[in-house]
Amino acid sequence: MLTHDLVIIGAGLAGMRAAIEAARAGVNVAVVSKVYPVRSHSVAAQGGINAAMSVDDAWERHAFDTVKGSDYLADQDAVEVLCREASRDIIELEAFGAIFSRDSSGAIAQRPFGGAGFPRTCYLADRTGHALLHVMYEQLIKHGVVIYDEWHVVELVVDNGAMRGLIAIEYATGKLHRIAAKAVVLATGGYGRVFSATTNALTSTGDGLRLALEAGAELMDMEFVQFHPTTLKNTGILMTEGARGEGGYLLNAVGERFMARYAPKAMELASRDVVSRAARTEIEEGRGVDGCVLLDLRHLGEARIKERLPQIRDLAMKFAGVDPIKERVPVRPGAHYSMGGVKTDVDGRTGIDGLFAAGECACISVHGANRLGGNSLLDAIVFGRRAGATAADFALSSLPAQFPEGALRDVARDLARLYNSGDGDSARVIRGALGALMEESCGIFRDRDRLAACMSGISELKDRFGRVGLSDKTDGFNMELLSIIELGGMLDAAEAIAMSALNREESRGAHSRTDFPARNDKDWLKHTVVHRSGKGLKIRMTDVDVTRFKPAERSY
Ligand code: FUM
Repeated sequence: MLTHDLVIIGAGLAGMRAAIEAARAGVNVAVVSKVYPVRSHSVAAQGGINAAMSVDDAWERHAFDTVKGSDYLADQDAVEVLCREASRDIIELEAFGAIFSRDSSGAIAQRPFGGAGFPRTCYLADRTGHALLHVMYEQLIKHGVVIYDEWHVVELVVDNGAMRGLIAIEYATGKLHRIAAKAVVLATGGYGRVFSATTNALTSTGDGLRLALEAGAELMDMEFVQFHPTTLKNTGILMTEGARGEGGYLLNAVGERFMARYAPKAMELASRDVVSRAARTEIEEGRGVDGCVLLDLRHLGEARIKERLPQIRDLAMKFAGVDPIKERVPVRPGAHYSMGGVKTDVDGRTGIDGLFAAGECACISVHGANRLGGNSLLDAIVFGRRAGATAADFALSSLPAQFPEGALRDVARDLARLYNSGDGDSARVIRGALGALMEESCGIFRDRDRLAACMSGISELKDRFGRVGLSDKTDGFNMELLSIIELGGMLDAAEAIAMSALNREESRGAHSRTDFPARNDKDWLKHTVVHRSGKGLKIRMTDVDVTRFKPAERSY
């Protein structure tokens, strides 16, 4: 058996930042990751990371924009932590070795982003996530953190309400490993893959949510799924909001800048939920172009596109056959970010002793009903650091405990059952059906009938999942087996999203109910909390923390 004080699950920005902080505190920390760390989905983040760095800006203004962007559902005490600590983290990232684009004075450049009242998004061209993830990996190595990459966590081991560690499968051999740990941080990222059209990597399957639910932790605000307005036609590859921050326009089929109708002041830089609904409305009302709207960057000129947006130019050329220097880029909204996740406090505590969460898989909640672009990398860094510190403290003050005897045997028996299965339903087919169902009935615009159909569709898919078969019986790199394990988490995430969306009879942020089109603070200024009850999920509601900013009408 392997033994560590603390194990972090996930090697994206939040996970690596947590691990570095824990290593600095002197605990024996390991990271378990499905992929090699620099292939984690944080690498795909493009546009930037927010912080009030300028003397003309203030963290309180950042906090206001974040709360307004959240449609007043964010917990304002947590937002204050995020925005107050942002600039110290940017400076520390620089000290770690991160490279940022510069302005003419040599300071870190900051670009305008959606829903922000000041240009406060720091960036490296349109490869910000790539730059930060690689620096974080260097720091991980420097701090001597043990990495189990291409390992997949199958189960958390919790005994008498206390964390004992986990069981993971090693891809290369198919061998199950026990890892004893006094504390675990979930940093498994989002679950955009439950939708068929998404910017998310194939690995963003909600694994941490399943682990959390099974360990007895709660999920929060799962109905709030962010659809990014500009994802590339067919593939769903992200075309950064930074493109609009640099001055790009969105056009419909008749060449109109249609945002003038939906957000006359902020135009293309309105909050993301507003722009996504506008783009979808244009498409649904027949003013789209082959299921898309058009992102026009041509007026920015070749030099600026090559300097500030080189990656999306390359992606548009390779995957859509258009060069943004000369042509308009066909884009459409796609699932991008999960505001909901494992319910935590600002130090990553989940309510289960020794279990913490950070990054996209967690819900603190700093994003409420809609996240501002540039706040997710920040969330990962600030709350990854804080969760790492708190989990390290927890581990240092806890005595080692016995790893329960039967834990490995139970997991091995479940896997053996799969290996011995005959012809069953195919995980690939169920996964495809789930994506289409969520897209169709739980997308940008929702209503009771569609959501009820979504719930019964998920229930049928869960039944089919109970009869899933494994056709590949090999041990090493059995990706079919891994996709079956992932699918269990995806079905849980989808069920939590749909049931929370059906329950919330109002429209707020990214949750847009055509049968309840108004925001209703009287009844619904509340968080949705979901927990496992028997084989199903149950909902309760909790209050939102309001400190400085009283809920007000939201317009851009
Ligand atoms: O458009 C983007 O670059 C995305 C940024 C974000 O989601 O924060």
